[in-house]
Amino acid sequence: MALLLAIESSCDETAVAIVRGEAGCCAEILASEISSQIPLHREHGGVVPELASRNHSLHVRALVEAALAKASVAVDEVDAFAATTGPGLASSLLIGSTVAKGIACALDRPFLGINHLEGHLLSPFLDRSSVPPHLALIVSGGHTLLLDVERAGHYRRLGGTRDDAAGEAFDKVGKMLGLPYPGGPEIEKEARGGNPAAFDFPRPMLHDPHLDFSFSGLKTAVLYTLERGMGSASRADLSASFQVAVIEILVGKTLRAARESGRDAIALSGGVSLNRALREAFEIACEKQNIELLTAAPALCTDNAAMIAFAALLRYFEGETTSLEEDIHPNLPLV
Ligand code: KG4
Ligand code: ZN
Repeated sequence: MALLLAIESSCDETAVAIVRGEAGCCAEILASEISSQIPLHREHGGVVPELASRNHSLHVRALVEAALAKASVAVDEVDAFAATTGPGLASSLLIGSTVAKGIACALDRPFLGINHLEGHLLSPFLDRSSVPPHLALIVSGGHTLLLDVERAGHYRRLGGTRDDAAGEAFDKVGKMLGLPYPGGPEIEKEARGGNPAAFDFPRPMLHDPHLDFSFSGLKTAVLYTLERGMGSASRADLSASFQVAVIEILVGKTLRAARESGRDAIALSGGVSLNRALREAFEIACEKQNIELLTAAPALCTDNAAMIAFAALLRYFEGETTSLEEDIHPNLPLV
């Protein structure tokens, strides 16, 4: 049995979590505290790095204390301390990793630097006793990544975005439509009352033989439509037509990747995987092809520290630690 405390501060959420687990068993989340900076960045229409790091610094200590209190754990009972060390905003990553290293050093406990993307990738498996072979799609504000997963720690990159991430496309289109940041959940709300066939937006790279994605052409097509004027169509129609294009691309490529790599399970993670229409489209496609669909609990889809603590727990059981001399890596790839 081990107790892990992790700090996530790669972008605009400061988060601290404590998980308890045993090798080969599912993990129990004892605390998962988050201080969201969304209202702060909303005024600027997106994340302002300097504001983000200053706010991480202001909130992290109180969050560590709140997590320990919630978990009814004394800090010296924690077996190891972890933090996201990349990818992300350099000045934000530095806050969480420096605090986690500081506590680990003071208590003479191991430190583990965790890849944010591995946290997302493992988030559907916190309540399971193992990570089975599967096809993983990570769809967030910063990343769109398809991976073949043999087991925890053994990943093969199959494809990723060549320009904007899926969530970034949602956010940029949201901005064009005058919706608040982040645009993803706002577009989903708008799209509910709209006609997805109102505009025939492109599905870039959907039928290309490779497994990469591109969303910037789709975003530009929406911009041109707005500039030309929407005629009798509404903002809801435009949102629904944009959303269905993103969904068709993600579902089409992911299902093809699963077929090509012979996997019979698909795991979705990241903020965009909260989208109901996306989940429903995956449910229908997976059922047709006899593929199991694994998703994370809603609170684990957007940035959180429980997923980082879980990734750290699995690595801790493998005997891994990270040197305190190890730097943060803003552009850290997963594989
Ligand atoms: O995973 P996440 O919290 O942060 C990153 O690691 O990037 O993902 C945030 C992204 C944002 O782009 C946001 O607009 C998008 O996830 N998102 C959604 C929905 N909820 C969040 N996109 C589409 N539909 C949603 N319901
Ligand atoms: Zn993330």
